[in-house]
Amino acid sequence: MKPVTLSTLQAFKRAGETFSCLTAYDASFARAASDAGIEVLLVGDSLGMVLQGHASTLPVTLDEVCYHTRCVARGKGASLLMVDLPFMSNASTERLLQDAGELMRAGAELVKVEGEAWMADGIRELTRRGVPVCAHLGLTPQTVYQLGGYKGQGRDADQASRILEDARILVEAGASVILLECVPASLGRAVAEALEVPVIGIGAGAHTDGQILVMHDVLGVTGGRTPRFVKNFMAEAEDIPGAFRRYHEDVKARRFPAEEHSF
Ligand code: KIV
Ligand code: NA
Repeated sequence: MKPVTLSTLQAFKRAGETFSCLTAYDASFARAASDAGIEVLLVGDSLGMVLQGHASTLPVTLDEVCYHTRCVARGKGASLLMVDLPFMSNASTERLLQDAGELMRAGAELVKVEGEAWMADGIRELTRRGVPVCAHLGLTPQTVYQLGGYKGQGRDADQASRILEDARILVEAGASVILLECVPASLGRAVAEALEVPVIGIGAGAHTDGQILVMHDVLGVTGGRTPRFVKNFMAEAEDIPGAFRRYHEDVKARRFPAEEHSF
């Protein structure tokens, strides 16, 4: 695989080709995912849940994200490395810029922020300084206590048009990628069709430009009840590299997500 860049993702979108993304938290799994052809690796603040055992992503610190970013950067191969800004990095523009700077120094190539249209100013300041941004909309886990749980978003027409409008505003402000979590497939399609930039979905149906899952869900090692949109690819594979290949191939062939994984 040639090094994956933002231009690669844009070219995929123009060609109508999907791409796969997966979370990674260390060098060995990053290498296996990259070898499987997975185009984008995300050091997600989901690490607070799947690595640290917390009930949410809120306890994760910038230092912890930087540590895992340095680990993944050593194994990432040709994959593009996206990294989450942790909870409250958006407390002020100054903090946002400083925290994003630390992530870039640790090896991030694209930083992801949660937040609605009000994040436009912060995104503008980041992109001015050469930090590419993915804006995460829909179910934003850092606001779980305000949302009242991990619930699907954009379910009625007003909510859906608000999410589409927010995505437009954030792209206008400079966001290079949009990520949509847990929204109806019809909204995933509408946002992907309305925007020039690549749209990555998780629980957002089959029509976004890319798909992402948490590695532990792909390997079937997430404790408790798993959400409807995840799939355990280990069940159809002989080993972990095989499960990663299967996930990548199923995304590329648009076999995943299926109807049963969508809202
Ligand atoms: O932290 C994470 O893993 C994420 C993905 C679920 C998109 O933000
Ligand atoms: Na996250």
